[in-house]
Parts: sequence; C-alpha cells; structure tokens
Amino acid sequence: MTERPDALSDSLLAASSLDQAWTLPGSWYTDPAVYRYELEHVFASAWQLIGHRNSLAKAGDFLVSDIAGAPVLAVRDRSDKIRAFYNVCRHRAGPVATGHGNCTLLRCRYHGWVYELDGSLRHAPEMDGTRNFDATTIGLEGLELGVTDSLLFVRNSGESALVADIARVVREINDRIGPQTLGSHRLYQRVSYDMRCNWKVYVDNYLEGYHIPQVHPELAEILDYRQYVTETFAGYSLQHSSIESATAAYSAGDAYYYFVFPNIMLNILPGRLQTNVVIPLGPDRCRVDFDYYYLETESAAAREQITEDLSFGDLVQQQDVAICQQVQTGLSSGSYERGRLSAKREAGVHHFQECLRSVFRNATQR
Ligand code: FES
Ligand SMILES: [Fe+2]
Repeated sequence: MTERPDALSDSLLAASSLDQAWTLPGSWYTDPAVYRYELEHVFASAWQLIGHRNSLAKAGDFLVSDIAGAPVLAVRDRSDKIRAFYNVCRHRAGPVATGHGNCTLLRCRYHGWVYELDGSLRHAPEMDGTRNFDATTIGLEGLELGVTDSLLFVRNSGESALVADIARVVREINDRIGPQTLGSHRLYQRVSYDMRCNWKVYVDNYLEGYHIPQVHPELAEILDYRQYVTETFAGYSLQHSSIESATAAYSAGDAYYYFVFPNIMLNILPGRLQTNVVIPLGPDRCRVDFDYYYLETESAAAREQITEDLSFGDLVQQQDVAICQQVQTGLSSGSYERGRLSAKREAGVHHFQECLRSVFRNATQR
C-alpha cells in the first residue's frame, strides 16, 4: 500500500455542497504521487469497459484493451466461455495478442510462447535445459470479467464498496433509455485520441456543457447547453438534453450522456451508442478510446449518417483535446491552486470530484 500523498490533506478531502465547493487542487492533476495513489485506490477495483460481447461471437475471437495503462485481452475459449487476462506473457512480459480477430491459440509476439485460449501455457520453445521449469504451472494472469447487457467489463481486484456496482448501473440506465438498451447496438469503429493531460481534466471537461459556446461553436448551433439537465446517482451521473431537429449526423430525440465513475462515458442518441473510456497513462497523459456502436449500419441512409457522426464527433473531440491540453498547461503553471464551480452548470463536475474525495477518504480509513 502506498502512503497517502501530502497533496491529499484532510482539509482538501472534506466533502462540501456544490454551492460551497472548490475544484480539486491543481497539484492533484500533476503530482506523480497522487497519480500512483489513484491507480491503486481508484482504478485497481473499478470495473473498466473493454468492449462488447458481439465482438467475441465465436470461439477464438479476441480483443485487446487497456485498463489504467495495463494491457488486457478478452477471448472466447473453446468451451464458449469469455475470459479476460492481462495481455502480458509470463516469460518476459511481451504481448500475447494485438488488435482483434480470431485465433486458435495465443502466441506471444516476443519469443513465441504459446497459450491455450483458457490462458494455460501450452508450449514454450527451447526451454529444455532450463531447470525447474514446469510449463504446466504457468498461465496468463486472469482478470475478473463482468458481462452485463453484453457490455464487457473487467477489473483486477476484489470487492470495493467505493466503486459502482456495474450491473446495477447498466440496469438503471437501460430502464431510463428504453426501448433501446446499451447492449442492443453493434460496434462499428474505435477511434483513439492520445492527450497530454491528466485523465481528470478530460473527465471534468466532459461533465459540463458550460464550455460548449466557447469551445464547440458548431455543436452550439444544434444544441442548447442551457437545456442540459444534470442528475446525479450513486457512482454515476447523467446529462440529459434533447436534439430538437435532426441534423446530418444525428436524429432528433433524447440525448443521454452518462458518466460512470471513474472514467467511463456512455453517449446515447437515437440508434447510436458512443462509449468513451479515459485511460490514464501518466500524471499528464491519457488516451480516450471512442467506440461507436449503432443499431443499424447497412442502409445507405444509415451509412451516410454514420460518416457524418464520425466526422462531427472527431471535430468536437479535437476541440476538447486542444482545450484540455491547454488546461493541463495551466494546472502545471504553478499559478493555480483551486477555483470555484458554477452552481448552475457544474453539478456533474462536482459529483465526480466528490466521488473522488470520498474514495480517498475511505482509502485513508481502511
Ligand atoms: S516474452 Fe513472451 S515469449 Fe518471451
Ligand atoms: Fe467539449
């Protein structure tokens, strides 16, 4: 267990209501000790979205992902069971899978050790002569897998009351967004964005529409952020609005922007689900994986709308990347301690920041 960093002092961990709240201190976005503490206390037990069961339809289908910078893979084995492992070879930590596809065995890209789809080591070439080496005792390190409404979540360690019970969250979201459900969509494409900012900068930014008029003029034309309603729940929050009239990219209807603590976003529009997972890669680096899912992808009209959605999504994301990187520079400048939140517009940011403080408080008490 790492020591609680000095930057997480008791007074900074105290809870407060939105109208009284201060933002998280700038140092929490830059301090390597805070980052390491987060990996241990926030991410180690949090369910992390890695994909959709549709992508693993047959035995041998696999996909790779990252959880908090650790490479992982999921594969459907020969007995039709989906399993999740660290994508880390037991020899010298090479990758046993890359990308996605179908395979009969998992072969490490470094020296060719071969694993069965259940993770057991089947063959380690040229290891004869190595004493006390027993391949039958070696296997890929497993991860806990949770499949809920076809979404695949993994985590690496036991129970924690501090992070959302993912099955409950998915059920509550589905009750709200019906008749579509999160699992009813099919993955169309993944787009990843590397960013020079702390993962929390991106999360804070996602959780308010306050910046839309300044940062996203094109988006401001099709939606009115003042109509956003923010609701908060145990372990997740929702920004809800409606798109009044259809555009080339979107059909008219309800828009739901769910955030599941600590780093998962589920953006639901009629016929479309876009998931964003913010993967911390260092105190001042992260990557966001955008997975675009649709109910319908075959018709010409659907394809046209998808093309528009992807290109509009990219435009908005590039704008967010640029502002988040500038914010990171500001946070690192040494001139910023803490700021105040808009009681009117930043309820989602406050909820996230309170969840984080609460995790830290509980970690300290244990
Ligand atoms: S690291 Fe995998 S075979 Fe060497
Ligand atoms: Fe934005």
